[in-house]
Amino acid sequence: MSGPRKRAASPGAPQIIDPAKSPPLYVPIGMVLAGLVGLLALQALIIYKAPMIFGPFRFNPAALAAVHLFTLGFATSVMVGAFHQITPVMLLGRPVEGRWALLQGAAYLAGSWSLVWGFYHSAGPWITAGGTLVVLALLVFALLVVRAMRSATQWTVAGRFMAMALSFVLGTAIWGLVLAFNLRFGFLPNSLDYSPLGAHVLVGLGGWFMLTIFGVSYQLFPMFALTNRPGGASGHIVLGLLAAGLWSAFLALLLHLPAPVTAACLLVAAAGTVRYAADFFGMMRQRRRPELDLSMRYGVTALAFLAPAAALLLLSVWHRPLAVPGAWLFLMGFVATMILGMLYKIVPFLVWHFLMKHRRTKTQRLPKLDEMFSQGAAKAGYLSWTAGVLLTGLVLLGGALGWWDAPGWWEARYLARGSAIPNLIGSLLFTGTILQVLRARPLD
Ligand code: HEM
Repeated sequence: MSGPRKRAASPGAPQIIDPAKSPPLYVPIGMVLAGLVGLLALQALIIYKAPMIFGPFRFNPAALAAVHLFTLGFATSVMVGAFHQITPVMLLGRPVEGRWALLQGAAYLAGSWSLVWGFYHSAGPWITAGGTLVVLALLVFALLVVRAMRSATQWTVAGRFMAMALSFVLGTAIWGLVLAFNLRFGFLPNSLDYSPLGAHVLVGLGGWFMLTIFGVSYQLFPMFALTNRPGGASGHIVLGLLAAGLWSAFLALLLHLPAPVTAACLLVAAAGTVRYAADFFGMMRQRRRPELDLSMRYGVTALAFLAPAAALLLLSVWHRPLAVPGAWLFLMGFVATMILGMLYKIVPFLVWHFLMKHRRTKTQRLPKLDEMFSQGAAKAGYLSWTAGVLLTGLVLLGGALGWWDAPGWWEARYLARGSAIPNLIGSLLFTGTILQVLRARPLD
């Protein structure tokens, strides 16, 4: 008996997106809402704990809690839901069963929040128990996504990026768990060695977040900006360079290979990023819709933050405090800004599709996607969010370069609290508009 026929979507050919393959609506929406709770809690923590969060980052309970509230409580929560949604719809595979996704999502959230709680209170058992639950939940997540991928009948570049990203999220979490046990039992020889931490951060930020975002953008940017998709070969080169460069740099750090070896591996990954940038500018140049909608504006802003973030993270090898503004711009500027932008497309579309499926009659009218939420509030949210990321980035850069060392009203703690407020306002406006979308109903 032959299985489902697989076809690789050729670059020029239209790729089929089949919303009928979606999992139950509560799977992606539940994880989005959980992620937004994480984002709001993060803003509250930043304002409450400023500037301790911005102090020396190693073994700093508030910084560890904030980083993992972001990476696990917000970003990965949303991405788990998005993977369950996008994989079957884009690759035309079997959607995940709702109860499995629910079980896995609940275990993941319980583990993530326990880990964050443990970091905040420096409570070893919470850290190791929460971390173990996160790893187990992510293993089940990967199995469920791979199951959907194995039944796929159409493979795209984005799908291959997502498959590779799964290996990175597992690598990040499993190695993170080793570090968590090390925090408690101290079995790694030198506690001041930065290589094991660097390996964890590299595959988390580069392999899980950046690689997923690049891959998904190959699918979504051409749809949102009405532009041509770059040739498939280009996407595969980017994927190959990033995956090879990041995994080999991870190993080089774990094995303590000489610094030039790690640098060479990172150069390979950097070449992948440069090639992606060329593809991105190509897509932007050829777009047939000149003005950018809100979602694309978020997307372009996110990529603009990536350049200074990467430069600061690189420079932090020589001047370690620069890692703080670098990580801020990478996480809040690049990852979060991109996620918020994508959600402005994905959530209204999912709700619209749900309403369409459950219409009372075929003639019942539905709101258009951008009629589902207040455009004014959404634009104000974008401006406030972007201003907050930029301001706090500057405050942190000043902190790293010693600009605020003298006491006075410009002390880091006042500046950090003040600059975090526009971010909080931006997150609240974003959450408010997403809740508006969820309340959308047929027009008559
Ligand atoms: C996508 C997932 C993750 C990302 C992107 C990520 C990122 C990071 C970052 C940026 C740091 C540095 C923070 C600092 O030193 O202040 C860090 C540290 C750490 N992470 Fe994660 N993390 C992730 C998941 C996890 C998980 C699941 C665990 C536990 C199972 C974990 C355990 C740790 C530990 C123990 C440290 C401190 C290590 C040390 O300083 O020796 N992380 N992580």
